Amino acid sequence: MSLVTFDAARRRWLLSTPRTSYVVGLKDDDTPVCLHWGPRLSADQAAALPEPAAFMGSSFDESGTGEELLTEAGARFGAASLQIRFPGGDTGIEWRYTGHTIDAGHLTLRLRDRVHPAEVTLHYRLRPDTDVIERWTEIAAEAPVTLLRCDSAAWNPPPLPGYRLSHATGGWAAENTLRRAEPPVGETVLTSRRGITSHQANPWLMIDAGEATEEHGEVWSAALAWSGSWRITVARTPGGRLSWTGGFGHEGLTWQGAAWTTPVFAGLYSTGGYGAASRTWHHYVNEHVRPAARETRPVLYNSWEAVGFEVGEESQKRLAALAARAGAEVFVMDDAWFGGRTSDRAGLGDWWPNPERFPGGLTPLIEEVHRLGMRFGLWAEPEMVNPDSDLYRAHPDWVIHQPGRERTELRHQLFLDFSRPEVADWAHKWLHRLVSEHAIDFLKWDCNRTFTQADPGEMWAGHVRAVYSILDRLRADHPHLRVEACSGGGGRTDLGMMARTDQVWTSDNADAADRLSIQHGFTQIYPAGAMAAWVTDSPNPLTGRRTSLAYRFHVAMAGVLGLGGDLLNWSEQELDEAAALVGMYKDIRDVVQHGELRRLRGAVQYTLGDRVVVLAYKGPAAFGAPGVPLRLSGLDPDARYRDEDTGAVHHGVLLTARGLIPPFPHDDYASALIRLRKEQL
Ligand code: DGJ
Repeated sequence: MSLVTFDAARRRWLLSTPRTSYVVGLKDDDTPVCLHWGPRLSADQAAALPEPAAFMGSSFDESGTGEELLTEAGARFGAASLQIRFPGGDTGIEWRYTGHTIDAGHLTLRLRDRVHPAEVTLHYRLRPDTDVIERWTEIAAEAPVTLLRCDSAAWNPPPLPGYRLSHATGGWAAENTLRRAEPPVGETVLTSRRGITSHQANPWLMIDAGEATEEHGEVWSAALAWSGSWRITVARTPGGRLSWTGGFGHEGLTWQGAAWTTPVFAGLYSTGGYGAASRTWHHYVNEHVRPAARETRPVLYNSWEAVGFEVGEESQKRLAALAARAGAEVFVMDDAWFGGRTSDRAGLGDWWPNPERFPGGLTPLIEEVHRLGMRFGLWAEPEMVNPDSDLYRAHPDWVIHQPGRERTELRHQLFLDFSRPEVADWAHKWLHRLVSEHAIDFLKWDCNRTFTQADPGEMWAGHVRAVYSILDRLRADHPHLRVEACSGGGGRTDLGMMARTDQVWTSDNADAADRLSIQHGFTQIYPAGAMAAWVTDSPNPLTGRRTSLAYRFHVAMAGVLGLGGDLLNWSEQELDEAAALVGMYKDIRDVVQHGELRRLRGAVQYTLGDRVVVLAYKGPAAFGAPGVPLRLSGLDPDARYRDEDTGAVHHGVLLTARGLIPPFPHDDYASALIRLRKEQL
């Protein structure tokens, strides 16, 4: 069955994914519109879809709804997806269809403006194994024009009796707070104006009619593959329609040029509630976005929370020995190994080993890490410079700034402008040299501030593209290199970054109880195999909360387990317990990282082949109330499941219909790990 078919008589294209269909058609005036986004349709059924509703006759009707990219031409009053300022000042586009191509699952619709020489190509890419449809837009003008807005796509679910919007908000150390609320009639703007994806909002959304649950109901969702400023505008009309348009940049930015390609804004329709929507995203991200998702991510140790800026060869070696003892497979040296970096006030930009801290360079530490049987990883923040650095003294003009204006320092640092080729080249050269000259297997790419004093032009996108290009070149030249995306925790969690990194540092908040909410929000779209999570000290340095080692481990085991505590202060008993828990993680990690994730009440369940892993959590005890059984999900009702730890055998149907009481210890913030294996009949 073709992924894309064309009905020439009706001028409509039927896009078919395994379980869904999307139908795009042209109105009489050539405006491309969405005729259907929902259950799978046959060609006959798609042909029977009604033409988009015409104006009712009043001058004040709603217009523009259902369009694939909203313009400003004529009687359209919504938030425009596309605004091109042509010579003479007009910004509307009047569509003229000029042709299409279908190349397997890739449909391109070519359109022009009726007046000015500008081509707009709408791209749709489908793949046989996913319901996710990738969409993006390309602009080509004969002469440079000014782009005021150039979204990747507008998405139009069908009219629903009501609407609920799910999205993520947050802040530093509080990323990915899931919000679910009825969107107001009006426009709701989800955005980052910071030059990075941001901690405050994440570029995805889900829409349902207000009735979906984790397991049931229709959900429409979209996620943007971009790591700089972005904007998604959700418009709910008084007449009962809802649509959204989204892409890179934010209001006030303009781009000059003759050719533009937007990032991908991918979307999906799902009928199995939020959970099924998330699993469809996870599968798509693992199969089509992440570069090495089929690999199993190793357990790493990172020294940041243990030593902060007090980095030295001897202390790193001592930590490395303990990390190896606990079962870590990668040892990552974080900030403060370079230049004059002994605090956050100096050194960024001077990327050579600090001669006092590493008199023999990095090699003695790397060799020791390898001798201990681990791979070596290193932190870097390539886009940044401290004013107190040799780099800044030599190139004060390399930073993002506006002549004559103050240069706002955040964390005592300034942002290097990678949209300038000489600056990006410099960064690529030193990174390439560093990785070439040392046995570095893992790079943590950090970014600890946002843009300020940035010109409202091309650099906003150019900088992000240069970051992408450096990462792409590093990966191509060093195929063994694995990369962690980080931006003061999870400030660069998005599909664009995931396309060129292996995992994301989810948050600087490693408090296990807080992490449950951060991880809950993260997994709405992004897979557990990309979600880096560390076990650190108790009481937690950020929140002061005391939790058991097992609880901290069980929370971090829900993603890619790492260790980040000050192991020098851990007792022998704690180190032994940690080693046993790391061993347990190694047993379950394929199921966690590659299995299907189900969010249960107070637990997460992963299923891969015949194995089921459940990580269950209990908050502070309240009134000594007896626990409620935990109902599992998605099991084979006719199968039996053996508990690998107790030997107990459960019927699948009873595990889902009645549930089981997790074996929580009698404690606040208690947790349990349950490993089940489906019995062969
Ligand atoms: C922010 C990161 O999120 C931390 O893990 C750590 O790498 C610091 N930066 C270092 O400055």
